[in-house]
Amino acid sequence: MSARAVTLFLAVCSCYAHKYNDLNVESEFVTEPSKYGSLWPLPQKVQISQTSFKLASLSFTITDAKESSAGPSCILLQNAYRRYYEYMFGGTRRQEPSKSRGTRAPDLPELQVLVTSPHSECDGYPAVASDESYELTVDQPYAVLKAPKVWGALRGLETFSQLVYEDEYGAKSINKTSISDFPRFAHRGILLDSSRHFLPLKVILVTLETMAMNKFNVFHWHIVDDQSFPYLSRTFPQLSQQGAYHPYTHVYTPGDVKMVIEFARLRGIRVIPEFDTPGHTQSWGKGQKDLLTPCYAGASPSGTHGPVNPILNTTYDFMRQFFKEISSVFPDAYVHLGGDEVDFTCWKSNPDIKSFMAQHGFGQDYSKLESFYIQRLLDIVTTTNKGYMIWQEVFDNGVKLKPDTIIHVWKGNQQQYQSEMANVTSAGYQTLLSTPWYVNRIAYGQDWRGFYKADPQDFKGTDQQKKLVIGGEACLWGEYVDATNLSPRLWPRASAVAERLWSPKEVTDVNDAYNRLSAHRCRMVQRGIPAEPLFSSFCPHEYKGI
Ligand SMILES: *[C@@H]1O[C@H](CO)[C@@H](O)[C@H](O)[C@H]1NC(C)=O
Ligand SMILES: *[C@@H]1O[C@H](CO)[C@@H](O)[C@H](O)[C@H]1NC(C)=O
Ligand SMILES: *[C@@H]1O[C@H](CO)[C@@H](O)[C@H](O)[C@H]1NC(C)=O
Repeated sequence: MSARAVTLFLAVCSCYAHKYNDLNVESEFVTEPSKYGSLWPLPQKVQISQTSFKLASLSFTITDAKESSAGPSCILLQNAYRRYYEYMFGGTRRQEPSKSRGTRAPDLPELQVLVTSPHSECDGYPAVASDESYELTVDQPYAVLKAPKVWGALRGLETFSQLVYEDEYGAKSINKTSISDFPRFAHRGILLDSSRHFLPLKVILVTLETMAMNKFNVFHWHIVDDQSFPYLSRTFPQLSQQGAYHPYTHVYTPGDVKMVIEFARLRGIRVIPEFDTPGHTQSWGKGQKDLLTPCYAGASPSGTHGPVNPILNTTYDFMRQFFKEISSVFPDAYVHLGGDEVDFTCWKSNPDIKSFMAQHGFGQDYSKLESFYIQRLLDIVTTTNKGYMIWQEVFDNGVKLKPDTIIHVWKGNQQQYQSEMANVTSAGYQTLLSTPWYVNRIAYGQDWRGFYKADPQDFKGTDQQKKLVIGGEACLWGEYVDATNLSPRLWPRASAVAERLWSPKEVTDVNDAYNRLSAHRCRMVQRGIPAEPLFSSFCPHEYKGI
């Protein structure tokens, strides 16, 4: 997916960057407190007053409201209470505000959580239609967080924790506040690539944790690609045995995958795996004989292989069994089937493919052969009762798609991707945008501002078309990323995308965003995430390393 795009964008030398030359400078960067404090992403409706309450860390509790449909037996919420208590009070010495400073500010002893719908969905999986709305009232005698479902309660807990700050004596404080909130887009994703480099389980879990801090709700797991096949398949163990960088140390076992899915669920995050075919499959070929097309040099096989061989029945038998397994391992209603960047050179060299082309009347149009393959694959996946997401090329090539297919736009410049969004939605398909959000691309300066300004609904189209945009994803392709640099490269740059996808369309004040994002970044640092700085500044609690 990304290799070619990346070479095109290889950064221009930033040799001139010396002292204060910042290519994106629009004004002086002064971190002044925003009237929205450090909230990120900004809620739909916020009112923060000047009245502040002290929180007593020793005695502060997060409790279930009596009428809540998700009571003490809801493990998901109980875990979240512990997690957020730790975020809010864990780093402190757990001191009560000293009595000698008087009792000017009254205490706020408790946050009550009320899940209002009879079906809290505590034991379910989040889905594209999940209700993530919530209402938060911080006032005496106690704060109240109200949400129809547990998913909104999770988002509201994050918001509550973001309202807590330290006063000048280091005492935990919170202002009287009222918030009513819900996401602008239902699909707010992060793509990680565990094929170019293997990503240890821990770095995936840390990413999920940080995603929750940014209210992201989809982990798009680009789990395999040309370079390696770390997914340990029960049905076809040879795939990772032969195709992983190492068959024991560089694989995701069924237990690992389960852990990722449950860890994500507890944070309201869906896991959508991508198994990209027919291109990007070199690693598949090592463990699955005859799956890939033999390339020819003149009249004889050259020994190399191209995309999946679309003319053999065995290919489809394999895909049927493989995706049957995938559909039972991953609970989400969608799988991502890739379909991007298919290189036709090898197909063109192969005499059997050429005669198949002739037989089917495809002429010299190899995209017809690609469509032939994808069509059959989609039919196979449909029988597993999953919906599918695909990269835009599949749509561009005119493959017949189920009406609920989600087209993932990743190519082109702004004008081109906006035209693509218009075309996809005018054909009636739902769509996701990633083109402006390739966070693996790095440049000197504050490129988060560009991420922040891109809006997935900015294209020529009717209101009905705009409604087909279900969100977007920030992509972190793995050519130059492994566990050593993943977090600082991803955060807080991806946080810019998080706000674009959650907050109202009108939230576009980049200076206010800068102030809140600086504080949000420091909060991530305080929570142990090595999120890189936006610009010259400091954090009250600096990163302490590992
Ligand atoms: C919270 O209250 C304090 C003290 O009254 C005030 O200085 C501060 O500006 C308030 N914070 C926000 C975000 O309004
Ligand atoms: C492949 O399957 C098709 C349709 O089921 C059948 O007509 C064809 O003979 C099969 N080809 C081979 C080589 O088995
Ligand atoms: C969108 O469709 C128009 C009309 O068919 C076409 O000219 C244009 O190239 C398409 N845009 C993209 C990005 O493919």
